[in-house]
Amino acid sequence: MSEWWRSAVLYQIYVRSFADSDGDGVGDLRGIRSRLPYLRELGVDGIWLTPFYPSPGADHGYDVSDYVDVHPQFGTLADFDALVAGAHELGLRLIVDIVPNHTSNEHRWFRNAIADPAHADRARYFFRPGRDGGPPNGWTSAFGGPAWTRDERTGDYYLHFFAPEQPDLDWHQQSVRREFEDVLRFWLDRGVDGFRIDVAHALFKAQDLREMHEPVPRTWDGDWLTALDQPELHDLYRGWRQLADTYPGERMFVGEIVLRNQETIARYVRPDELQLAFNFALLHETWDATAIRETIDATRTALGAVGAPSTWVFENHDVTRLPTRYGGGAQGARRARAAALLLLALPGTAFVYEGQELGLEEVDLPDELRQDPIFFRTKGERPGRDGCRVPIPWENEPPGFGFTTGTPWLPIPEEWATVTVVAQAGDPASMLELYRAGLALRPREEPFAWRESPPGTLAFTRGGLLCVVNVDAAAIPLPAGELLLASDPDLRDILPRDTAVWLTTKGERCEHRSESGRSATWRPASTRPATSPSSAVRRPRRRSALPLSDSGI
Ligand code: GLC
Repeated sequence: MSEWWRSAVLYQIYVRSFADSDGDGVGDLRGIRSRLPYLRELGVDGIWLTPFYPSPGADHGYDVSDYVDVHPQFGTLADFDALVAGAHELGLRLIVDIVPNHTSNEHRWFRNAIADPAHADRARYFFRPGRDGGPPNGWTSAFGGPAWTRDERTGDYYLHFFAPEQPDLDWHQQSVRREFEDVLRFWLDRGVDGFRIDVAHALFKAQDLREMHEPVPRTWDGDWLTALDQPELHDLYRGWRQLADTYPGERMFVGEIVLRNQETIARYVRPDELQLAFNFALLHETWDATAIRETIDATRTALGAVGAPSTWVFENHDVTRLPTRYGGGAQGARRARAAALLLLALPGTAFVYEGQELGLEEVDLPDELRQDPIFFRTKGERPGRDGCRVPIPWENEPPGFGFTTGTPWLPIPEEWATVTVVAQAGDPASMLELYRAGLALRPREEPFAWRESPPGTLAFTRGGLLCVVNVDAAAIPLPAGELLLASDPDLRDILPRDTAVWLTTKGERCEHRSESGRSATWRPASTRPATSPSSAVRRPRRRSALPLSDSGI
């Protein structure tokens, strides 16, 4: 085995919304197990399950009340064991989500802390006296409103970066660290291949909970700068890595490290720390060739410097679906298809969020159906994340669409009848078949090199495969080579904007003579440094207007 995660494609399963086996309208572990053959056929290497632990559901499972069990709505530990076994039988890896930044307010530690102010468990959280008749400091919650809630009994406040039902743990307490090591062992013993670490960059808060008054104006996370990227994290993750390395089978960690600077992120994936960190840079990038190229270069340079693979993410359960972000409708669909070929050709590890392979759009739900705490805590100012969490349409029959025999917990739009798995399977023009073909042909270990290409386009090779994406240029001639895959099934010898192709390359030069007689040359750009000439003189990065994720962190 050789560090399987370095070139893997991991498929994110939002457990509530993938497949329901018992008709209650909510996805579950048995449902997932029944769909493993689909994932095998799709061609991914493994799955990441969002939290399925006992939870009151204030943040749909990211508020855990027991870290070592399964919520009855999702099944039992025996169902979990069967799912792991089933995945492994099919050669699929399985990683689980661990939520160490906060517990549920119904976790026994927090219940003890509230019931008895003298209880030792109170020290596991941040209870602090108020200041000037208000909270201890001015930090705000990622979900809106203050990050502090008053404990009516004592008048103290407790800290929660997310909902009040998600009190933050104090990671300076050794007991917290020890308990989580036991949690990791519990799931490692059950055979998981690794963990996705929720909010991995924010576990330690500077002990004085200092407020930041600089920089001015404050950035979206400006309040919390003394609680992000604290030096203690590295020692913690080294310890976790050592623990996981005592198990056979190459167990892996991927951290949700939401920081802007790739060099800072790279410090978390040094050889003795986490194996992977999500890279949300492309996810928040606009459809702009120069920006995409700069992001790819910055990522590869920073991660390459510590010997870690780059990761690529276009969608997850916290952000608006990609076709919608890219303009929706026909344009969004064309761009999402081109982005699929880009994603699967890039070197490193790719994450695919359930339904991304179907090209699903964000669903505009009526307010009365919304469930995300973001919607409620911001009084509707931010719609929240329900629109990307609508269950998967497997078959063509509404209302359950093969997801459930009951009523789906969020309604599946009737118009999705044309984009179900059944409707797309076998149709060579479908998004599903594009993903299947891309996953089958995807380069793995082959070296990456940019090729020169016209402005507005991206071209690079992975060994004998040439990927060309026309992001925002006028139509360009296709270079020579055998066409392996095209994002536009009707594509002939030109590549219009918003399309991508994979071709085989032969030799160091590929030339194409277009019908007009003009010849386009696609020279290797391998003599360049890892950063492109355009980025050698680095322009200031455009800042995305969006927070780095819709969860606000
Ligand atoms: C992460 C999760 C998000 C969750 C938040 C709090 O950002 O991806 O879904 O709401 O953490 O746990």
